Amino acid sequence: MAIRTILTQGDPALNKRCHPVTRFDRKLDDLLDDLRETLTQANGVGLAAPQIGILRRAVIVVPDPEKDEMVELVNPEILAQEGEQDGLEGCLSIPGMWGYVKRPEWVKVRAQDRRGNWFETEGSGLAARCFCHELEHLEGHMYDEHTDRLYTTEELDEMEGERMDG
Ligand code: NI
Repeated sequence: MAIRTILTQGDPALNKRCHPVTRFDRKLDDLLDDLRETLTQANGVGLAAPQIGILRRAVIVVPDPEKDEMVELVNPEILAQEGEQDGLEGCLSIPGMWGYVKRPEWVKVRAQDRRGNWFETEGSGLAARCFCHELEHLEGHMYDEHTDRLYTTEELDEMEGERMDG
């Protein structure tokens, strides 16, 4: 296992469509283990293989940050979605920035585990946002394409202050 460098916006690997995983072997174990270790160190809620420069359809998601349990999704696809939520979203590949992005309120996802077994999982709220965000990375897209404006952490602090004053 190794902590890998998280690529940032502008790196061409982040704008490529990723290839399906076809071999459930030691190399995939290493990739998923590296994603886990890198995400733990970065203290994020999701990480996709292209963010560490591997153009394969594999992501790690932390559906409930209270539990910090990681779900490994190989060749994931969204089976169903419902509702809509608008909320702040950030990305480890766009450090220090945030944007308001509309996402479904609930999604159901189908994926394979590291042994190749298919399973289904679902999530609402933050988990749904996270599934959508990570799966989008596999298509070479990022959340900033869905928002007109990115905010810095400092700007958000000021906005919260204004709301409290008002
Ligand atoms: Ni991201």
